[in-house]
Amino acid sequence: MDESFTNLIHDFALLNSLGIRLVLVHGIRPQIDSALKIRGQSSQFQDSLRITDKQSLQCVKESAGFVRVDIESLLSQGVANSPMSGAELRVISGNFITAQPLGVINGIDFQYTGKVRRIDSTAIRQQLDLENILLISPIGYSPSGDLFNLSAEQVATEIAISLQAEKLILMTEQSCQSASGELIAQMTTDETKEFINQELQLAVNTQQALKSAIHGCQAGVKRVHILNRLIDGALLTELFSRDGIGTLISSAQFESLRPAIIGDIPGILELISPLEKKGILISRSPEQLEINIADYIIIERDGLIIGCTALHAVKNSQTGLIACLAIHPDYQKSARGNQLLERLLQKAAKQSFTQVFAFSTQSMQWFIERGFSEINMQQLPNDLETNYNPLRNAKVLGKQLIM
Ligand SMILES: CC(C)(COP(=O)(O)OP(=O)(O)OC[C@H]1O[C@@H](n2cnc3c(N)ncnc32)[C@H](O)[C@@H]1OP(=O)(O)O)[C@@H](O)C(=O)NCCC(=O)NCCS
Repeated sequence: MDESFTNLIHDFALLNSLGIRLVLVHGIRPQIDSALKIRGQSSQFQDSLRITDKQSLQCVKESAGFVRVDIESLLSQGVANSPMSGAELRVISGNFITAQPLGVINGIDFQYTGKVRRIDSTAIRQQLDLENILLISPIGYSPSGDLFNLSAEQVATEIAISLQAEKLILMTEQSCQSASGELIAQMTTDETKEFINQELQLAVNTQQALKSAIHGCQAGVKRVHILNRLIDGALLTELFSRDGIGTLISSAQFESLRPAIIGDIPGILELISPLEKKGILISRSPEQLEINIADYIIIERDGLIIGCTALHAVKNSQTGLIACLAIHPDYQKSARGNQLLERLLQKAAKQSFTQVFAFSTQSMQWFIERGFSEINMQQLPNDLETNYNPLRNAKVLGKQLIM
């Protein structure tokens, strides 16, 4: 067991103490390889899957036993040597997985390599209700008493599906990075499929984790996190910071730009009130927002509204007023302001507006760099002129729309 694993054990203890229900599934691939090596043997693989013959099965049993006992002992003593001292962790293992043979695929008999047939989710839930941590090995038993070697990623995913878990976290020893080496913070399941098909050098365990993530999401697990376990503190950072440190995979877009609905009003107010207090935006009451909600578009990221703006139609003219443009300070300078403006301009074109205006005290330059120009009051439509508050002394910016 390496040092990063000991740190992880402390994190599990902390999560347990916070009342987070944990099912831990450990892998045994490297341990099986070492056990075979000691015997002067090796396994055959097909499509990165081990063909588990009788000799390998012996190593599977050995490895599962050793690893489970090692983790149990770490969970028992790790707490005493940490700030979590005094917490009592109860770890439960058992025959929660029924397996069946993978069978013969393309003429190849996978022998004792199996797949999950059924999860005893009732028994797992009962243990979780008792605040026990479940520790599950990647092996399963068949009703006829045979034992099968399973993929840890598959076992974890099937358990998450059967429990309809909030989160499934799959640990790898590699971060998901783009071809240019940037960490991929989030992917939809479709993007994940494309990512796997790119010629990136993905370790077998990473590929398995990504495929399992797709399956988990498609079967109803809301969020699957792919996490590089070698990064110190990765688990807690992923769980307790909004942007995390791993790759979040979900069926739906994690961030979306969409028309606002009434339910978004508290989130919009939270975003704009600091700017209203500074006088950058004019004050709006919840009632005003509600009346005009159809004018607003927002960017929602993981349940938080991080951007908004509105396009109000100006009476008696073919023009629109851009208002309430704001991007959350943590998410500025990533072209989100630009995206909102683009979407508003499309909306304005659909409404056959010939011009749009904005009043700004602090962001004139931002608008000018996006094709707006400063105009004088006489060029404003009459109905908009009455909206102008001379005390704010905002600059007036306008943009002609090409029809
Ligand atoms: C103005 C605002 C919406 C821009 O959002 P954003 O998502 O950061 O914008 P983008 O990523 O599309 O553009 C970023 C560029 O605009 C520049 N920029 C940001 N705010 C600016 C401002 N007030 N004036 C001039 N340029 C600005 C950035 O420096 C960056 O340019 P760079 O890449 O050359 O450094 C955002 O800064 C904001 O919410 N500001 C506070 C509220 C506000 O002023 N709203 C306008 C009311 S009229």
